[in-house]
Amino acid sequence: MENKFEDDQFHEFYQKLPKKRQLFAQYRGSWFMEPVLRGVVAFQQHFEAQDSDIILATMPKAGTTWLKALTFAIVNRHKFPISESPLLFQNPHLLVPFLELHLYKEGQIPDPNSLNVAGGERRVLGTHLPYQCLSETVLDTSGCRIVYLCRNILDVFTSYVHFLVKNGVYPDLSQKSWENLLDAFCEGTNQYGPFWDHIKGYKEASLKNPNKVLFLHYEELKKDTKSCVKKMAEFLGCPFSTQEEEDESVEGIIKLCSLENLKNLECNKHGDTGSVYSFKCSSHFRKGEIGDWANFLTPSVAERLESLMKEKFEESGLDL
Ligand code: A3P
Repeated sequence: MENKFEDDQFHEFYQKLPKKRQLFAQYRGSWFMEPVLRGVVAFQQHFEAQDSDIILATMPKAGTTWLKALTFAIVNRHKFPISESPLLFQNPHLLVPFLELHLYKEGQIPDPNSLNVAGGERRVLGTHLPYQCLSETVLDTSGCRIVYLCRNILDVFTSYVHFLVKNGVYPDLSQKSWENLLDAFCEGTNQYGPFWDHIKGYKEASLKNPNKVLFLHYEELKKDTKSCVKKMAEFLGCPFSTQEEEDESVEGIIKLCSLENLKNLECNKHGDTGSVYSFKCSSHFRKGEIGDWANFLTPSVAERLESLMKEKFEESGLDL
């Protein structure tokens, strides 16, 4: 691996960007910490999307791990039968790496032939980048597909604070930790924020080009996983056959990727996901419940986030 965007060049570019709270720099309308931004720039400059690529896009804590596991299992179901699935032995983030956080981590440039890390039938790649930060080959010049998973922002926020505590970024679940992240969320200056633009960008793209971008909700995925899995397979060009339906192939995939199953696998109990931040594998699995925010957020915090969502989405006229 070589690094083409030399340190001094990056430094010069970084210096010119608007900053917030010392740690965050604004680039193409979104906020990034420096190590992540190095990966973003390297990805934009060097990643060449292929027609068969699948890009999974999410905000952190929207259900990325689940989306990665399901997509990997759907796409590779002929190559890896469930009893031999790599998902039984490796964390989903290691099988479906993030572009800016793993593959182009801190500006490194991987060999293009090494991007199919799990040796699957197609390259399945993850990103937390907002739509406007994807590269030209992803958006325009290749036929690759994008699946976006969105989740109720109150649950995303609640999940995020737990995640940061589990990884030692915040010391505990005290009020200070919640307030710290809340202000950044509401200002739009948390990593990959503002969240409203993140969601809007992919929603608009999915309306404009439904064959390119599939927009899913975590809540819908929880309530009717089977329909969503079938929809994903169709969108990705690998629908389940009648025989597969009779053999309960969809049910097998759902069971394999369930929170209970993944959480209890040895490979997801230990180690870290090897991204730019050494987050624990286990920290990606918690409760996976809809509306868990009600157990943690005070009415005033919930109200603040809800009215922000309402304001931002009413402005856009989008129906979410
Ligand atoms: P909670 O903290 O609300 O439980 P991400 O994968 O984007 O980091 O999101 C993590 C959230 O998704 C956590 O939510 C986690 O419990 C939930 N999650 C992880 N794996 C899941 C699965 N297989 N099914 C449903 N939810 C899952």
